[in-house]
Amino acid sequence: MHPSISPAWLCLLHPLLVHAQTEPRTYRASFTVNLVQRYQTIDGFGFCEAFQRAHSISNLPQPFQNEVLDLLFNTTTGAGFSIYRVGLGSSEDSRGDHMNSPQPSPAIEFKWDGYDSGQVWVAKQAQRYGVETFYADAWSAPGWMKTNGRDDQGGWLCGVRGEGSANGTKCGTPPVNYIDEYSQYLARYVKEYIDAGIPIRHVGFLNEPNLVKNYATMQSTGAQAADIIPSLSRALSKLNLTPVGISCCEAQGWSMARDLLTQLSSALPNFSSYLSVITTHTYKGAPPGPDVPLETQGLPTWVSEISPIMDRLGLTTTWYLNHAENEGLRNAVNIHEALTKGNASAYIYWIENAGFETMWWPDDKVNFTANSNASVGERYTIGSTYWASAHYSRFIRPGARRVEVRQEITGGRGGSLVEEGTLLLSAYDNLDGSVVVQVINNSDVVVSEIEVELWDQLVRFGSDGKRDVSRGLEKRGQDCEVETWVTGNERRFVLVASGEKLSRGGSFRGALSARSLTTYVVICVQWTF
Ligand SMILES: *[C@@H]1O[C@H](CO)[C@@H](O)[C@H](O)[C@H]1NC(C)=O
Ligand SMILES: *[C@@H]1O[C@H](CO)[C@@H](O)[C@H](O)[C@H]1NC(C)=O
Ligand SMILES: *[C@@H]1O[C@H](CO)[C@@H](O)[C@H](O)[C@H]1NC(C)=O
Ligand SMILES: *[C@@H]1O[C@H](CO)[C@@H](O)[C@H](O)[C@H]1NC(C)=O
Ligand SMILES: *[C@@H]1O[C@H](CO)[C@@H](O)[C@H](O)[C@H]1NC(C)=O
Ligand SMILES: *[C@@H]1O[C@H](CO)[C@@H](O)[C@H](O)[C@H]1NC(C)=O
Ligand SMILES: *[C@@H]1O[C@H](CO)[C@@H](O)[C@H](O)[C@H]1NC(C)=O
Repeated sequence: MHPSISPAWLCLLHPLLVHAQTEPRTYRASFTVNLVQRYQTIDGFGFCEAFQRAHSISNLPQPFQNEVLDLLFNTTTGAGFSIYRVGLGSSEDSRGDHMNSPQPSPAIEFKWDGYDSGQVWVAKQAQRYGVETFYADAWSAPGWMKTNGRDDQGGWLCGVRGEGSANGTKCGTPPVNYIDEYSQYLARYVKEYIDAGIPIRHVGFLNEPNLVKNYATMQSTGAQAADIIPSLSRALSKLNLTPVGISCCEAQGWSMARDLLTQLSSALPNFSSYLSVITTHTYKGAPPGPDVPLETQGLPTWVSEISPIMDRLGLTTTWYLNHAENEGLRNAVNIHEALTKGNASAYIYWIENAGFETMWWPDDKVNFTANSNASVGERYTIGSTYWASAHYSRFIRPGARRVEVRQEITGGRGGSLVEEGTLLLSAYDNLDGSVVVQVINNSDVVVSEIEVELWDQLVRFGSDGKRDVSRGLEKRGQDCEVETWVTGNERRFVLVASGEKLSRGGSFRGALSARSLTTYVVICVQWTF
């Protein structure tokens, strides 16, 4: 039934009968999950409510507020998002999109308002659901620390090499150096969160540092970032915040992140001694892959912001029409590529943008007070991107390791459906021992029948209590159960099979529908020896 496999492998064998609409052909395929070939650790999946977007949740009346919180954070009924990205304010006020700064002018004391544009409230809600990873990122320094004297319209931090050290800017002649002030400001800001009970794990000091915009923006090269990093590190340790890591550099796209890292490593060759995470956005380019990671000196890479806003596309409930950036299937493919080509350890969505809502949005046409019986569909809308993120986020938990999954195809025209871009596979080994296989069917071929044969590892625990997966393998059909979750055009995040025991031969049957995302969660009983 199964091909010869090395004994330490967990195998999901999928003989696939694939019928193309025009020219029927049959494939026989096996998916082999190799638990021994381990890749990056997954830190989680999350979202950001900066720029006062937090209010869209906090302003929702009940019961809708709790419904939306469940959709976002609940690990049994929602996406179970595990990372919350906070925007640290730099503005003088809270008008429009401004995130107010606790110290908008040097003349006044640093004054924390305990609210931080609504993000403290969301962070507290996240904690109620068990979220442990909080990431605080500043888009800019307050204006008074910058060459242009304002927090928007780009400009540089006074004191960084090049533009920050030039005469004749708002930094004065000769220029005042505000690097340490900015570092102390950020450390103080993070400490306020920690004192409020929200354990910020990483702090960033840049956001898309190539941009000059009418919102908080601060320019920087990798070398200029190197001028700030050691100072920020000192400021954090001065406040006993050494467990808080420093992230860099929130590039707008993958190749920009590569350039920033090259500049950073020339200016600060041991950057990994200071940093905890390398962050990048994928608006201007995703990992070109296959397997083209950033040169991070071994640090984890986070895709810390992405959404369809570059394409000026708003929320759609359509899962698949033509692969536009706002469609759910496209989001699934994007997540897949970040994880498998980019070695990403986290994937954080930019969840809302006025005018271009991306994942969910309260329906502002409804007067909540007047129409207290409005149905869910009238109160808020869930975009199809949400469902793709939920598949990855709910089942691949923090601490999981991505593992190798191979596909072998026989029959049909030969060749691999993976190579044809049809089936995109990835697999993850969770800390609780469950194994998750994500299968994106990105073509129009309907798989009418699949058979999965499962080999479970022989699980042992070391004296440190950690599972040792490299000891061997045994066929464990009777002790495993499989859940199958599917999203496609016709259904959203539907549990199509659960509690299914594997047959004596260790197999189960199912089907893959067209243009779908299927998640298999294989839960096996574990025991010690
Ligand atoms: C998550 O959803 C479950 C099922 O509805 C519920 O029992 C649980 O209380 C929710 N979790 C939180 C933190 O509200
Ligand atoms: C800036 O001005 C100071 C004082 O006038 C001068 O000493 C210094 O050389 C100038 N620096 C640059 C980069 O022009
Ligand atoms: C990084 O390297 C510099 C220069 O060798 C050294 O002074 C510094 O202590 C190093 N920093 C860390 C955090 O290891
Ligand atoms: C992938 O990321 C991990 C850290 O999460 C790192 O240890 C590993 O070297 C990276 N792999 C590649 C190929 O870059
Ligand atoms: C909403 O309805 C309430 C009750 O009818 C009314 O008092 C309020 O003015 C309405 N608000 C808006 C923004 O229309
Ligand atoms: C809402 O529904 C309840 C129960 O059906 C009804 O008693 C109430 O009058 C409704 N309220 C409005 C504003 O329509
Ligand atoms: C994938 O989806 C396509 C497109 O709808 C469908 O035609 C195709 O049969 C599916 N292929 C597999 C291998 O599931």
